[in-house]
Amino acid sequence: MAVPHVGNNLLEELDLFSKNLLDRLSDSKDNDLIIRPLSVKDYNKGFIQLLGQLTEVGNISHEQFLNTFRKMKMAGDYYIVVVEDMNTGKVIGSSTLVVEQKFIHNCALRGKLEDVVVSNEYRGRQLGKLLVNTISKLARNLRCYKLSLDCRDNLIPFYESLGFKRELGNANHLNARFHYENPTEQSHL
Ligand SMILES: CC(C)(COP(=O)(O)OP(=O)(O)OC[C@H]1O[C@@H](n2cnc3c(N)ncnc32)[C@H](O)[C@@H]1OP(=O)(O)O)[C@@H](O)C(=O)NCCC(=O)NCCS
Repeated sequence: MAVPHVGNNLLEELDLFSKNLLDRLSDSKDNDLIIRPLSVKDYNKGFIQLLGQLTEVGNISHEQFLNTFRKMKMAGDYYIVVVEDMNTGKVIGSSTLVVEQKFIHNCALRGKLEDVVVSNEYRGRQLGKLLVNTISKLARNLRCYKLSLDCRDNLIPFYESLGFKRELGNANHLNARFHYENPTEQSHL
């Protein structure tokens, strides 16, 4: 496969963010599993299929994946962490930290935890916990003042067990959903 261009960089910068940021944050107890930044190579390692276990993803071409990866990398505020099973070469877990720059709180950074997923066959092996804890430590190291998430009711105990708290009176989550006749219209900004 030809080495794809990501921004202006070549092979040495195929990761979404620097591996150094994960050093010492995230030791998996299982030697066959590694935790690392998302790489451009993960399109061919089942990353998109894994996200399909979280929600509807769509039929994403390799080109769409690379374009989106490049946008995220250039923005610099996206930290997608994946777990790879070295035996199969498949990505079997993922979670995302998005860092939002604020003016408030003295130009502070706010973290958002998104898209936590562990592949069906690997659930119950503490990998969800590993992914969420890794993102929490990363958010702290980047000096975010808080880390927030949205989840379904049944997952509240999972996140509470990992240190997240419902802030009663301050935890409403509202959406305005926009519908487009052609779904591709929403993704070319
Ligand atoms: C939620 C999910 C990421 C958990 O991953 P996992 O690897 O199975 O979870 P872990 O093995 O790390 O579980 C860690 C702890 O949380 C508990 N836990 C896991 N899922 C839970 C749930 N739904 N409710 C309550 N506790 C839960 C486990 O029992 C375990 O407890 P322990 O430490 O006392 O043993 C996984 O089930 C998943 O991918 N689900 C589908 C996608 C999804 O809904 N993602 C969340 C979007 S907000």
